[in-house]
Formats: sequence, structure tokens, C-alpha cells
Amino acid sequence: MKLKRIYFSLVLLFALSGSCVLAAVVTVAVDHPGAQINPAMWGVFFEDINFGADGGLYAEMVKNASFEFPQPLMGWSIPAENAPTTRLAVLTESSDGGAKGHFLRLESSGESGAVDNEGFRGIGVKAGNTYDFSVEVRGAPGLALRVDLCAPSGAVMASARIKGWGSAWTERKAVLVGSHTEPRARLRLTLEGTGSADLDHVSLFPRKTWKQRPAGLRADMVQALADLGPGFLRFPGGCIVEGSRLELRYQWKKTIGPVESRPLLFNRWNAEFKHRPTPDYYQTFGLGFYEYFILCEDLGAEPLPILNCGMACQFNSGELVPLNQLDPYIQDALDLIDFANAPVDTPWGARRAELGHPAPFHMKMLGVGNEQWGPQYFERYTKFSETLRARHPEISLVAAAGPELDDERYKYAWPRLRQLKADIVDEHCYAKPEWFFDNAHRYDSYERNGPKVFMGEYAAQSVGVVSPDNKNTLRCALAEAAFMTGLERNADVVRMASYAPLFAHADAWQWTPNLIWVNNLQTLGTPSYHVQRLFARNRGDRVLPVTLNGMSPDEQKRLYSSAAFDDTTGEIILKLVNARSAETKSVIELTGVGHVYRGTLTVMHADDVESVNSFENPSQVAPTQTAFSPGGPKFELTLPANSFSVVRLGVAP
Ligand code: AHR
Repeated sequence: MKLKRIYFSLVLLFALSGSCVLAAVVTVAVDHPGAQINPAMWGVFFEDINFGADGGLYAEMVKNASFEFPQPLMGWSIPAENAPTTRLAVLTESSDGGAKGHFLRLESSGESGAVDNEGFRGIGVKAGNTYDFSVEVRGAPGLALRVDLCAPSGAVMASARIKGWGSAWTERKAVLVGSHTEPRARLRLTLEGTGSADLDHVSLFPRKTWKQRPAGLRADMVQALADLGPGFLRFPGGCIVEGSRLELRYQWKKTIGPVESRPLLFNRWNAEFKHRPTPDYYQTFGLGFYEYFILCEDLGAEPLPILNCGMACQFNSGELVPLNQLDPYIQDALDLIDFANAPVDTPWGARRAELGHPAPFHMKMLGVGNEQWGPQYFERYTKFSETLRARHPEISLVAAAGPELDDERYKYAWPRLRQLKADIVDEHCYAKPEWFFDNAHRYDSYERNGPKVFMGEYAAQSVGVVSPDNKNTLRCALAEAAFMTGLERNADVVRMASYAPLFAHADAWQWTPNLIWVNNLQTLGTPSYHVQRLFARNRGDRVLPVTLNGMSPDEQKRLYSSAAFDDTTGEIILKLVNARSAETKSVIELTGVGHVYRGTLTVMHADDVESVNSFENPSQVAPTQTAFSPGGPKFELTLPANSFSVVRLGVAP
């Protein structure tokens, strides 16, 4: 049945040798291995966009947990039934022990007073799962605080009671267990009795975080990343690195240490798109630079931090740091290298050890600016690179080539980057699927001896760039797969690539398409996700030349392939994209191979090229795998219409 579904067929070799065979002949020159493929070739780009970190990967379930949002009661409200007896006030305290900045005074003038937190578009609770609550509290003794998780109907799904505080700030904890599954629960805090209590740093985490770390990351989202097998993790963005103004830029030093002391920052995606406003989007940095490095370690991914280069986002203010005031920015880069790599007897190495990681993080790459362009960028990049190269020649610097391929900004950048002998150049490309199909051979003719390419952000846009109507269709995924065969074939020039953006919350996104969609309970891999996973999990170590013949150029127009040799398993890995609307017979020929003793075929396809995955039907477009016996170094394979196939072949001379 499976075999039938994937349209796979083998026929005897003699049947293929007649002149009437109308098939694509795919020849893999196994005896002519080419460039080494970077082990970190296929990675991920993470940015706190679409609720990627707050409300996403960072598993804190309480929004505005410390009342530090500019509207300090955003996310908090009084339940209707408690309105007559409840008063809320947000007060400010400077240096009193325990609280920082704002805190909430919850006052009850009757039997009880209550306040709800709405979470991030609700709180996802699973039946039987445990949730850890904590709060800093002070006030008159004798009162109690009931902590409930409530369904939208008001039904209580989990409950606990906290007592025993006095006039000094003290931390109190409670454990809640969900009685049933609910994606949009609320947290309710009810002060029992008459009087008031001060509350700060209200927190709720699922017990089941990634690797069970307290106050950690959402396990299912990290698992989706781990399943991808990324070679690197680029963080923390994206435009948030730049900020819409310089004072709103990302500053890594403010994202380490106790979570409560990491200052809140406006998220640039809060107000970026008028058609997708997200007024409750702020960065709490619960996922900060230390956590990013740990995540890289967990995933076995090379860390690739991107730092602000003294420029705010050029799509916004484009604010500049004067060149003679750039030193603190460069110092941030030097300190980051020490924080990641220096021994523990240095100040920044000691800081890393104090946070719990004495061993270095082995950072090898650093990005200078995100998506910058123009002369002002190169003035600043030059200063960074002069200092960093002199002090840290072991670190490869990633330079920007602007937001688009082949436009004036890009054409201005490349000659300068060559002149500056840049190590790696970060290219970005958001375009229609046709562009990706048409540009699958783009890198075949790139200059081989200059800087290497990092295709740092790319994604096929079904409607148009930043259109809210873009969908993660199979067509988009096939276009990306076609393009990626070109990246792989040119692995001597293209060293790394990452799809962007990575995550999006289904109820809180600003940008579409995205690789992985989530809601408060589930993650969803798009067809593009499967393409990324198949490439990363079938990377190979050396490029093998492939030629496509046997059909007219027109018929072959939407066929793409690349091949690699896996040094560890001794397998040939062949990737084939059939973006035609008809199934295509192919003849696979391996030159320089005597025996093919094993084959595995993984195919992803759908009849309708506009198919998408959804939370209701998550596997509408998903790969299926089967084993087969190729019989020898020449065999037939039928490629279904609208398909991406990965063939692994165990070979012997
Ligand atoms: O991936 C979304 C945005 O696209 C990134 O933040 C930015 O670098 C690019 O413009």
C-alpha cells in the first residue's frame, strides 16, 4: 500500500536501454566527488517575532508577570464577579528588597478580591500535567491567596492556596495539576478575606519544560528544533537586533543574570505592521544570551549570535552611532567572545561559570549587523572587523549584504565585501516560489574565491513579501527544495543556510509564512519544515556532480537534483525535486559504483500543490519512507507530481 502511494517502481535494466524510453536520466558521478559540505550547512534562524520567544519558546505562561509593561495592567483584569470588592493599583518601588520597579496591590473590600492573567492568547493547560506557580508577596498576615486555572467558561481546572506572608517580600510557590485540556485558560489570583497584598514576579511554568529545566523552554517547540538537526542557530534576529531606534536595540549584556533583573524592552514587531498590530508584545529576555548558548549546546548547533553594529533598523529610523562613539558596541562584541569562550579566570569567563557553565561554548562565528546596507554600514563594519580580526582571528565574521538579492544595496555591498575580504556574507531572500525555481542555479556561476555565502534568511512567499495572505504551501516548499539543491551543489561557496522566520503563534503572528506554527498546546511542521529537516538529516559530506538529461529542456524545466556522499555511512544521497504537475519517470545512473546493496526512499508530495498542513490535519503534506532494492547502479524511479524525494543508496565499488 505504502509502495503504491509513493508511486515507486523498479524495472529491469534491459527494459530501460531501448531508444523509446522517455525518462529523465539522472547521472551521479560518484567517482568525481567535489567540495566538502559544511557540517553546519543547514541551520535555523531564531527571532522573537510572532511570539517566538515570549509567548513561545520561553515557557513562562504569565504575560506582564512583573507589571513592567508601559501599560502596567496589560494582560491583567478583574473578573466580573469580583468587581464590586476588588481594587487594583500598580505601585512603584525603587530599592526595597525583593521587588523591582512596579508591583501590584490587590485589595479586597469584602470576602475576596481577584485578578486574572490572560496569558499569551490564553494559557495552554493539559489534563494531568503539572504547573509550577510562584509569586513574590507581602502584606498584612492572616490572608490567603487562592491560585486557580480557569477555563473560558469560568470552571476551575486546577487550584492551590498560598498563605503565610508578612510585611517583607517573600517568595511563595504552589503546584497546580490540570483537570482537563484547555488551550485558552486564565490564571486567577483570589485574595481571601478583607485587606490587601502586594504581588510581583507572578510566574507559571509547565513542569515539563525542555530537559525538565525549571523556568525553562517549551519542550515541544525545542523538540521540533531538535528533530530538524540544525547545524547552527542564528540568534536573536532579525530586525530586533537593530531596534526601530538605537535605544530599543538588543543588548546581550542586559539579557543575562536573574530573569527579574533583565530589563523589559519594546519588541520592534509590536507595531511594525499596521495590518498586524501586537500591542502586548515586549521582550522580557527570559530567553537571553546564556539560554541561547545552552540551547545551541542541546541541539548540537554552532552558535551564531548577531550583534548591533551601531545602526538602528534602516526600515525604521536608521539611527546611527557616530563613528567616534562606536567603541562600546565593539566592546560588546569582544566581551561576548569572552563570555562564550574565555577561561574561567577571566572576568567574562567567570561570569559564564557563575551562571552555571564553566566550560566554553566554543563560539566560532559572530554577525556584525543584521540586514544593513549602504556606506554607513561599511564604515562601521570595517571598524568592527579591524578590531575583531586583530584580537580574535579564530572568529569568522558574518557581514550583511542588505535585505534583498541583486538590488542596488546588494550590488553596492558585494564589491566592498570582497575588497574587505569578508569571511561570510549574509544574504536574504523573500520572493515568490517562481523566483526560487528560476534561481536554483544561481550559485553555479558565483565567484569561487571570495567570501563565502550564508543564505541567512529565505522563504518562498505564496502571495508576496510581507503579505498576510501568504501560506506555507507545498509549492513554496518545493521551490525552497529546488533552490536548496543549488545551495548544496555549490557547497564550496554556500557554507550555511537558514529559513526565516522560524516560529509563529497561530493567534499572535505578525509575519507569514513561517517554518513552524504553534498554538498554546501544539506545534505544527509546515511542508517547508519537512524540506528543511530532510536536507539537514540527509546532508552528506561531499558534493557529487549530477547531470540531468533524457528529456527536452522544456520538459526538464521543473526538475532539480543534487547529490552527496555520506562519509560515515558510505551512502550516496540523492535529492530530486519534481515540481512538474505530472509524474516523471527517471533513470538513475551511478558512475564508478559496482554494487548498490540498499536503498531508502523518502518522498513528500500531494496531488494539490497548494496543500498546507493545519492543526486539524498536520500530516496533509508529510514525507513517507520506504526501503527498496535498487538491484544495481542503474535503476528506474518514478517521481510523483509535485514531489520532493530523497534517495539513500548503500554502495560498494
Ligand atoms: O524574518 C523576518 C525579518 O525579515 C527579519 O527580522 C529581518 O532580518 C528581515 O527583514
